[in-house]
Amino acid sequence: MEQAICEDLSIEGKLEIEHLIHEMRKEFKGRPSELIPMLQRVQRTLGFLPEQAMLEIARLTGLSAAKVFGTATFYAQFRFQPVGKYIIRVCRGTACHVKGSDRLLDTLVDYLKVVPGQMTEDGLFTIETVACFGSCALAPVMVINDSVYGSLNRSRALKLIDEIRSRET
Ligand code: FES
Repeated sequence: MEQAICEDLSIEGKLEIEHLIHEMRKEFKGRPSELIPMLQRVQRTLGFLPEQAMLEIARLTGLSAAKVFGTATFYAQFRFQPVGKYIIRVCRGTACHVKGSDRLLDTLVDYLKVVPGQMTEDGLFTIETVACFGSCALAPVMVINDSVYGSLNRSRALKLIDEIRSRET
């Protein structure tokens, strides 16, 4: 799925990038071969790759912006939109599909009012889909950050969301 690159950042977001780039100048030598580790560093810190950070990486490495953007968009590991504090990953593998993962995903999309890849307005959740977690015996499987939930049904999934929401508000 093609992702739009986020260009619209708050002042705090821009300052955070400037600080990160300042740190990265100390950590990296600015070699073109460091492009992927630099992109990974930005994503680890910010959760995604904003346009401003990719332009800074182009400056640091001497690579063209097109090369940096092209490399980043080539790899599925990189995100270009902000993500929620909780990333909900719904498995769409065969075993989970047979056990109703599509209905589970539709329920979450309706409930949270976002499509996969988007962040909820409160900044709490992003839904993603994955091909298989390798836990097929637990189908249907959903992972929230690092916690795995198996044999899920729709009401249990919504209860998990509500529990997180009430903890966070
Ligand atoms: S198909 Fe869902 S965990 Fe393997």
